[in-house]
Amino acid sequence: MSVGTKRSYEVSQFRDPRAELTRLQRQTVVMADAEEAALRRLAFPEEGRVLDVGCGPGFVAARVGAARPKVTIVGVDSDAEVLRRVPPGIETVEADAHALPFTTGEFVGAYARLVLRHLARPDAAVAEMFRVIAPGGRILVLDSDDGALVLDPWPAGFAGVLAAKQETARRRGGNPFIGRRLAALLENAGFQDLVAAPLCVDSITIGAAAFAHVVLSPVADAIDEDLMPREDVARAARAVGEWATGHQSFGMTTAVAIGARKPP
Ligand SMILES: C[S@@+](CC[C@H](N)C(=O)[O-])C[C@H]1O[C@@H](n2cnc3c(N)ncnc32)[C@H](O)[C@@H]1O
Repeated sequence: MSVGTKRSYEVSQFRDPRAELTRLQRQTVVMADAEEAALRRLAFPEEGRVLDVGCGPGFVAARVGAARPKVTIVGVDSDAEVLRRVPPGIETVEADAHALPFTTGEFVGAYARLVLRHLARPDAAVAEMFRVIAPGGRILVLDSDDGALVLDPWPAGFAGVLAAKQETARRRGGNPFIGRRLAALLENAGFQDLVAAPLCVDSITIGAAAFAHVVLSPVADAIDEDLMPREDVARAARAVGEWATGHQSFGMTTAVAIGARKPP
């Protein structure tokens, strides 16, 4: 870790950090079409400097940039390790989302994807995004909400491991139910003209194996040991694997994506 204290999400906290990077990449791929449609619907900028807050290894920045050749993407992340993996063509800055090292109004737009749920002060981070976006510029925030998860059946031990994961996140200031708060966060920061573009991810469309990998597997990982012994977490992870190949396993969740505009 390079900035601040223990964070609610850091790739190095996972049993196998390389596998977590692979998961992030697959997640980008399965959500790509729906996200692109959402970006168009939200009139996201097609040119100028755009900020990606919590860009991670840059899979999303690469995709967004490839679809918008006139956009320059600047990726910010507090984790120097993941920033080293960002592909060329994307500027990177190691910084904390709560205190962005940019001047006021420097960007035509900004987005934060699956990041706010991990922040101790998401309101401060959104206020910073408001500050660095130019008047009339666009924001997009996308995040999950654990309350949106529908499973049938539930993998054995999954309810327990989910509760332990949520408590691990809360201890670090994270909020696993942030999806429902996104609209209020944007409004409170001063954004207007909110547009919602919910993104449904389900096991019929992407397959149960991909759903288990992208949505369920990170739950059974990176949990404080005093909350759940390692063997129990491993058992739940195996149950997720069995769920993925099970007859008629169904899973669905909805990521909340909200776009808005800084007043002109
Ligand atoms: C779940 S990953 C999402 C990465 C990327 N946005 C994506 O959608 O694939 C969350 C990212 O937020 C970063 N992060 C967590 N806390 C942060 C903070 N306080 N400031 C900046 N980045 C942070 C993590 O290092 C990680 O790369």
